[in-house]
Amino acid sequence: MKIMAANSNLPLARAIAGYLEMPLVDAQVRRFADEEIFVEIHENVRGEDVFVVQSTSYPANDNLMELLICIDALKRASAKRITAVVPYFGYARQDRKPGPRTPISAKLVANLITEAGADRVLAVDLHAGQIQGFFDIPTDNLFGAPVMAADIQARYGDKDLMVVSPDVGGVVRARALAKRLDNAPLAIVDKRRDRPGESEVMNIIGDVKGRHCIMIDDIIDSGGTLCNAAQSLLDEGAASVTAYITHGVLSGGAVARVDGSALKELVITDSIKPTDAAKDSEKIRILTIAPLIGEAVRRIADESSVSSLFD
Ligand code: R5P
Repeated sequence: MKIMAANSNLPLARAIAGYLEMPLVDAQVRRFADEEIFVEIHENVRGEDVFVVQSTSYPANDNLMELLICIDALKRASAKRITAVVPYFGYARQDRKPGPRTPISAKLVANLITEAGADRVLAVDLHAGQIQGFFDIPTDNLFGAPVMAADIQARYGDKDLMVVSPDVGGVVRARALAKRLDNAPLAIVDKRRDRPGESEVMNIIGDVKGRHCIMIDDIIDSGGTLCNAAQSLLDEGAASVTAYITHGVLSGGAVARVDGSALKELVITDSIKPTDAAKDSEKIRILTIAPLIGEAVRRIADESSVSSLFD
């Protein structure tokens, strides 16, 4: 097997390769003067089981195109099996038609990855589990919850915890985390969003008074959802609010928003390469998921169970 990296998250790709004690494939993903992407693989991959690591994070379209061209290069170089390792799968939030005459872009992206020549996909905390069904090739969806639960136990295990879903759509994810935290109680923020990028908190379902709240979500983008929810939880008497989010998209002024928010701490993973602002923020801490992905890659290559990673 071999691990290849495109450009979106080289530190994570290197860490995955480090976990597997192997070098990255000697390849170059570069740009022509007009920004067209060019990929050159400098070693033999004929007959190999190759895993290409690329998050389709900002700039989403460029990173997606890099992934597609890497897959094409591997296919034409006669790799035996190509797995697209997409720790952050961009476009995932466009997974249904929110109104008439709108696209289902997550499905389109799944088609593109498949058509480019991927044989399998490995993603982490897909926005909706059903996105696995958008691919007609085997797709593994890893969960960040075990990594988060271990950190929560170590840092906040002695506190009176309450797991909080910042919206109704995240309840299944929050319940799974609560189960890992000795069946901690659950609360839900009933969020209504009038238009994309804006959020408004309506109601807290559950008694959060005196509790140390752990909010869990798949994505923090503008930060609006979390920062508003944190304030509402404190207004309802929560003792503190900490957030654990898999994908730190953190667009625009999100880091400043988090820094100025009522959140005690925001913990993200390195599924997306953190910006300098995120790394410098005193409120943001980054957990690595490289061993989780590395172990899943090893098991896929060995054809052993991936789901047992989460037992
Ligand atoms: C939405 O359903 C997602 O799970 C996140 O809650 C959302 O993408 C976060 O966006 P923002 O940080 O912009 O409020």
